[in-house]
Amino acid sequence: MLELRNVSFNVDDDKGQKEIIRDLSLKIDDGKFVVVTGPNGGGKSTLAKIIAGIETPTSGQILFNGKDITHMSITDRANAGISYAFQQPVRFKGIRVIDLLRIAAKTRLSVAEACKYLSEVGLCARDYIEREVNASLSGGELKRIEIATVLARGTQLSLFDEPEAGIDLWSFKNLISVFEHMRETINGSIIIISHQERILDIADEIVVLADGKIVKHGTKDEILPTILGTSAATVSCSVFDKGGNR
Ligand SMILES: Nc1ncnc2c1ncn2[C@@H]1O[C@H](COP(=O)(O)OP(=O)(O)OP(=O)(O)O)[C@@H](O)[C@H]1O
Ligand SMILES: [Mg+2]
Repeated sequence: MLELRNVSFNVDDDKGQKEIIRDLSLKIDDGKFVVVTGPNGGGKSTLAKIIAGIETPTSGQILFNGKDITHMSITDRANAGISYAFQQPVRFKGIRVIDLLRIAAKTRLSVAEACKYLSEVGLCARDYIEREVNASLSGGELKRIEIATVLARGTQLSLFDEPEAGIDLWSFKNLISVFEHMRETINGSIIIISHQERILDIADEIVVLADGKIVKHGTKDEILPTILGTSAATVSCSVFDKGGNR
C-alpha cells in the first residue's frame, strides 16, 4: 500500500516560496486502479515525481508497504517496486529499445519476449527493437516504448503520467485494453494521470487534484458523474472559493 501523509512541496520563485503540493494525504490500496485528474498546473506530475522520488517533499511522509520511503532514492524506490512513466519520456542516445526493455525487466529478455511487450503497446516490434531510444523516435513511439518498459517491469506500483498524450486516436482504444489487461494480470496497483474520460471510465477510484490539493477522491461511480461537464476552470475556482491563496 502507498500512503502519503500531509505532503507539501514548495519551490522558490521570484515572489518567494510557491506551494505546488499542499498538505496532501492519500492512500492507495493494493490492487487498485486509480486515475488522477484535474486542471493543468494542478500538481499531478509533481505528485507523481514525489512518489517516484524525483522530487523530495518539503514536509510530510511517504510510506510504501508501511515503510517510510520519504528520503529513499529513485533507484531504491524502483527496486522496492515503484515504476514511473514520465509525461515527457527521456531519450537515451546509444541505448537500443531492446536494451531499455532488458534493463526494465532486470533480465536478459529474448527478442521474442521483448517484442511481446512492444506489440502490446501497438508497435510493430521488429521495426523498433534495434533502434536507439534517441531523437529519431517520434513522440508517440517514445511514449509507447516507455509504457512497454513499465509493463516489462511489472512492479507492485505502476505510475503513468498522461500515457495517452501523443497516442493517435486509432491506437487509443488499444491503449485502454493494455491497461485493462495490466489490471487483470499485474499483482499490484496502477496510478494513471489522465484527462481522458475513457481512462477515467475504467478506474476503480478517481482523485481530482487542483491547486495542489485533493478536491475529490472516491470510487469512479461517485466521482465521474460529478466531474463530467465540469470545466477545469470550475474545479480550480471551487478551490479558490475554499480559501486557496493563489
Ligand atoms: N520546479 C518548479 N519551479 C517552479 N514551478 C514549478 C516547478 N515544478 C512545478 N511547478 C509549477 O507547479 C504547478 C504544477 O505543475 P505540474 O507539472 O505538477 O502540473 P500538472 O497537474 O501535471 O499539469 P498538466 O496537466 O499541465 O500536466 C505548475 O504551475 C508548474 O508550473
Ligand atoms: Mg503533468
